[in-house]
Amino acid sequence: MEPLLDTLNRPLETLRISITDRCNFRCVYCMPKEVYGRDHVFLERRELLSLEEIARVAGVFAGLGVRVVRITGGEPLVRRNVEHLVELLREIPSLEIALTTNGTLLPQKAEALAHAGLDRVTVSLDSVDDAAFRALNDVDFPVQRVLDGIDAAAAAGLRVKVNAVVKRGANDDGIIALADHFRGTPHTLRFIEYMDVGHTNGWRLDDVVSAEEIVRTLDAVWPLDPVEPARADETARRFSYRDGAGEIGVIASVTQPFCGGCSRARLSAEGRLHTCLFALKGHDLRAPLRLGAGDEELAELIRGIWGRRTDRYSELRTAETSALPKVEMSYIGG
Ligand code: GTP
Ligand code: 5AD
Ligand code: SF4
Ligand code: SF4
Repeated sequence: MEPLLDTLNRPLETLRISITDRCNFRCVYCMPKEVYGRDHVFLERRELLSLEEIARVAGVFAGLGVRVVRITGGEPLVRRNVEHLVELLREIPSLEIALTTNGTLLPQKAEALAHAGLDRVTVSLDSVDDAAFRALNDVDFPVQRVLDGIDAAAAAGLRVKVNAVVKRGANDDGIIALADHFRGTPHTLRFIEYMDVGHTNGWRLDDVVSAEEIVRTLDAVWPLDPVEPARADETARRFSYRDGAGEIGVIASVTQPFCGGCSRARLSAEGRLHTCLFALKGHDLRAPLRLGAGDEELAELIRGIWGRRTDRYSELRTAETSALPKVEMSYIGG
């Protein structure tokens, strides 16, 4: 099959699917309570694609070259019956299925997800210090229960990665402790530069701790060696501990953008196709889907959208672009 390329010759390989805009956390850098309080209007059930509709769209994407789907949110595990979505996706041949979660519901759900055919999970965990973690999630959730979630995922046979967003003044003093916790385990820890996604988080460049600073901090304690990328579209730059205690990654979307290899499309919970994390407007796939479009018709629509794609927001980011209207992280799923 000829790969489907955009205007910058980037193939379409990964589909990130947000299945809900809701979350049981109120992370200060993502869903601040002042904005996502009682008055916030979330998507209604009838606006969401059904699990069957999601799987159908994913099948069309797979026909266009997508090899990895990642289920995201909000928090995907707050949506009922995610296991069933995994089962439906598993029916699509040779697809890798991953899920990004805050880990809170993994103790209950890991086994069923693995049984349904999930390949791997990425758990967001910004600190192993209980007080700092409770302050970051802003719902006073104890860190131990997320650590239990990680253990439950591993026990169920899922491959596990851990994501930590670093925000200056909030958790940058906990980088070493986090790394220490996961060194020597099979779980790869990735540190993420705090990005200017959405508007509600009041992002400032001063809050960003650069990947270079993070790597320098870690290398001073445990010397690191760079690892060659395995694929052109990796978000993380990887390093291995010289003493053999495994790998870490840094995701440097602010200081070292990686748009050149970006093969990721995003589907919102209401069925809008976004060709960039920072694209305000998505292309509606739900209307044609519900009006009875066939698979080939949907494929043609997606081919047109991807074929015209020019996005490379992070490479163009300036003071002006970061003030442009943007979609919220909890809506599009990172
Ligand atoms: P792997 O397949 O395990 O490497 O996952 P991933 O890094 O592609 O996805 P994950 O959900 O773990 O996201 C990690 C961080 O990278 C999050 O902060 C995402 O918002 C960010 N991220 C993922 N894809 C992109 C992208 O295309 N552009 C930008 N700017 N950030 C991204
Ligand atoms: N910058 C970087 N990463 C973010 N995430 C949420 N908001 C931001 C932000 N502003 C992370 C979550 C999760 C992943 C999908 O995105 O912590 O790990
Ligand atoms: Fe929820 Fe993830 Fe956003 Fe935190 S970062 S509020 S866990 S969606
Ligand atoms: Fe891809 Fe947009 Fe992220 Fe660049 S900023 S890597 S184009 S999603």
